[in-house]
Amino acid sequence: MKVLVTGGAGLVGTECCKLFAKEGWDVISVDNYTRAKIFGKDAETRSNIEKTRKEYNIEHHEMDIRDEKIAELIKKSDAIVHTAAQPSHPRSIEIPMEDFQINAYGTLFLLEMVRKHKKEIPFAFCSTNKVYGEAPNYFSYKKVGRRFEPLDPTLFDGFDENLRINHMMHTPFGVSKVAADLYCQEYAYLYGLKTGIFRMGCITGGAAKAVEMHNWEPFFVKKALTGEELTIFGHGGYQVRDVIHAADLAKLLFEFVKAPRPGESYNIGGARKNSISLLESIQLIEEVTGKKMKYKFGPEREADHIWWISNINKARLHYPQWDIRIGLKQVFKDIYEALSRA
Ligand SMILES: NC(=O)c1ccc[n+]([C@@H]2O[C@H](COP(=O)([O-])OP(=O)(O)OC[C@H]3O[C@@H](n4cnc5c(N)ncnc54)[C@H](O)[C@@H]3O)[C@@H](O)[C@H]2O)c1
Repeated sequence: MKVLVTGGAGLVGTECCKLFAKEGWDVISVDNYTRAKIFGKDAETRSNIEKTRKEYNIEHHEMDIRDEKIAELIKKSDAIVHTAAQPSHPRSIEIPMEDFQINAYGTLFLLEMVRKHKKEIPFAFCSTNKVYGEAPNYFSYKKVGRRFEPLDPTLFDGFDENLRINHMMHTPFGVSKVAADLYCQEYAYLYGLKTGIFRMGCITGGAAKAVEMHNWEPFFVKKALTGEELTIFGHGGYQVRDVIHAADLAKLLFEFVKAPRPGESYNIGGARKNSISLLESIQLIEEVTGKKMKYKFGPEREADHIWWISNINKARLHYPQWDIRIGLKQVFKDIYEALSRA
């Protein structure tokens, strides 16, 4: 069996390439290293795929997902895991056209290629919780210790897939991803493609090439290691995120590929157990690295969530053999070890 991983050099792509290869699949990776162009050289992902290819037999192509030549790769694949993206919501405000071209047009282009050449194969798409725009911010929260918690107790396990998506700000990234997300659904309903839509919040791990505008967890750890001052944007650091290791996400995408449920969408994150506020993360990072962090507060970012925990019950129900395996402390240790080795 053969899988095509788009964005194979990125954080999620790296873990997908490794997992499918370990599971005995042949892996084709496509990446044109756009991440370095979008965020600068600190964010380069070429080194990830070079490292992966030293350990695993991966067929890699330096290719744009919008290149017609990708059809030849699709024709010989039995599944597609689409992770390539412009992944940052603050960066999308500065480059809305590029953001649209990669996320919305790029995804539609791939769907069309699959429809024309291999419509029977599973297609797992990495969407985002930013499709819900600012919707979480319309709920009420109170401070509990060093984090926010919702006043509504029914939200304890987080937001499910029924959160509204319109009449509020999203940033261009949220909008381009909504388009791609809905196209993936539409191509299942209309054309019968086996698409699956996975809406994540904060994915991280040792392969993340962090910058201030994307991958906050390793960016915070970097600041701890260099001793530089960190800026926490908005909400006094009480904002809550649920962190999932990219290796745990890759396992779910693998389960989907083995047993696709066409057109389904899933909120995916570290859930309640792996939830943490930014202030709490400072404490955890100090514990893991043994370094005291310096930080200050900056302005709130547009459409930035006050509180987000993913309710992952639907994914657990549909894929009962899958769950979050990597706990919060291990996630930060993995990041710390990867950055210490770099
Ligand atoms: N990291 C997160 O916290 C997070 C959260 C929610 C959703 N997501 C989504 O998950 C997916 C993977 O995210 P990630 O963190 O691995 O991102 P990443 O930036 O680490 O990896 C994406 C890879 O895609 C490549 N790429 C970009 N445009 C391309 C193009 N046109 N053609 C070929 N390759 C291209 C980049 O060079 C990069 O290597 C994305 O769709 C992202 O929006 C990520």
